[in-house]
Amino acid sequence: MGWYEGEKRELPWRGEKDPYRIWVSEAMLQQTRVETVRIRYPAFIARFPSLAAMADASLDAVLAEWQGLGYYGRARNLHRAAREVMNQGGGAMPETRDALLALPGVGPYMAGAIASIAFGERCAAVDGNVQRVMSRVLNLSLAIDSTPAQNAIRQEAQALVPRARPGDFNQALMDLGARICLPKTPDCARCPVHDLCAGRSAGTQNELPVKTAKKPPAPYTLIQFRAERNGLVLLSQREKTGLFGGLWELPGFMVEGHLEKADRRRLKAQCAKLLGPGWRPGRELARITRTLTHRKILFVVHLAENSGKGAPPASQDGRLWASEEDFRALAVSTAQRAAWRAAKSALADMEGK
Ligand code: ADE
Repeated sequence: MGWYEGEKRELPWRGEKDPYRIWVSEAMLQQTRVETVRIRYPAFIARFPSLAAMADASLDAVLAEWQGLGYYGRARNLHRAAREVMNQGGGAMPETRDALLALPGVGPYMAGAIASIAFGERCAAVDGNVQRVMSRVLNLSLAIDSTPAQNAIRQEAQALVPRARPGDFNQALMDLGARICLPKTPDCARCPVHDLCAGRSAGTQNELPVKTAKKPPAPYTLIQFRAERNGLVLLSQREKTGLFGGLWELPGFMVEGHLEKADRRRLKAQCAKLLGPGWRPGRELARITRTLTHRKILFVVHLAENSGKGAPPASQDGRLWASEEDFRALAVSTAQRAAWRAAKSALADMEGK
């Protein structure tokens, strides 16, 4: 703990006592780099300063403020949980780890972090950094993702948490993982738990944690259409759940695998189905690939042309003829912004010729 006082990272949520704000910071930090969260957290809190403000806001507004952070399920869960707490709990957050676990999107790590930091509960918060530190301290030769390894780490981490300042202790372990007990090159000479570390005394620290081979991300192709009318481009909103849930994009359909060339008949049928009977697929404008945790997605954007037959689809729920400005303000994934830009510049090149 002495080490933490001197070496802890200065982060905008450090010293925060409001459980809602701690919750937001932990939700952001769960899958986004600290350096990014450091920049984005203050703006998010300025926009939604309290649980009540978040519950009052629309999901679209929350997703828009979350954009670029990825894993949008976290934002959807925060929003849903905020409404649940306002409606059922009278606006008071649950105050124990076990009660926090009942909230949407709150798993063991996040419940432990919020309970220990905001409410001083003596419980562990085991994130990826802490897993690595513990695997070395314990000299754990089991694969880190295995159930026995996870159980051992959880039990040992729980036993280590002191009664006094459990939140600081948990954050000290996280910072130790981020600053000293680094994945490739642990700086054991500067480590405050050097003498207690079984991995260090066995000399195995560089081989730990033991990893199991990961499945490579599965390939998918998202074929999309860029339909333009009076300078506006048609967008559709994805289903609220699942991949990119609730975000806006060019209308399209997903297929398994990376398609070199889409079947023309299928392309025509999908184009008419998604855009309306007057629309047919034109030339390919852009293709980009983006790798997510479990999927490697090839985005292929086709121009859509209107044959003059049939009315163009109207703006309605989940569909919008959007200006460039609308597009900027809507909740859109970073990948989709890149696809939009690539298609737009291909069009500009075509028209310039
Ligand atoms: N990673 C996740 N939560 C954290 C926290 N509270 N401090 C530092 N790193 C973290």
